[in-house]
Amino acid sequence: NVAAAVFASGTGSNFQAIMNQDGRFCDIALLVCDKPGAPVINKAEELGVKTFIFNPKEYESKADYERVLLEKLREKDVSWVLLAGYMRIVGPTLLGEFPARIINIHPSLLPDFPGLNAIGQAYDAGVDTTGVTVHYIDAGVDTGPIIEQQEVPIHPDDTEEQLTERIQEVEHTLYPQVIRRVVEENS
Ligand code: GAR
Repeated sequence: NVAAAVFASGTGSNFQAIMNQDGRFCDIALLVCDKPGAPVINKAEELGVKTFIFNPKEYESKADYERVLLEKLREKDVSWVLLAGYMRIVGPTLLGEFPARIINIHPSLLPDFPGLNAIGQAYDAGVDTTGVTVHYIDAGVDTGPIIEQQEVPIHPDDTEEQLTERIQEVEHTLYPQVIRRVVEENS
């Protein structure tokens, strides 16, 4: 079986969705988390997924901690990295080792609303459609070749919370499906 690692920083609802549909096509061999105490860590422990938790502040540079991550990924024979709410830019150390093997999900129709708080950005912009993008990452912030997008409508009477829920529902279906397809087609 192909091994993958999920990188996450927060709640872990996308991690959970990936685990729910995890099966024959890919083993989630490791959860990497850059936020000690993040709820995603408990979710991984409950599901029996090995974790590697680190605090970037304890390293002098991105290259320093990414070298450690790389070692962990090699130990587990990981060939895919799945970003699920990992709120950091991936540097050349990891990008170089996993060319076209790092996938991200972002809660907007990229190239619109990259970066932090993409749902709030779309909500405040007053657009009537936003969405979800699954893409390969490159050295930029939410740039990189798009694999698949799905539109999500913004209703005139939506609160930002309602919109967030609608987007996350789409994420939880779309991301596992796209991962499965990409991994099957390229492994
Ligand atoms: C998700 O909505 C994901 O698309 C977003 O963070 C959230 C994480 O939620 N990612 C980004 O904004 C990346 N730029 P989760 O921890 O519940 O999966």
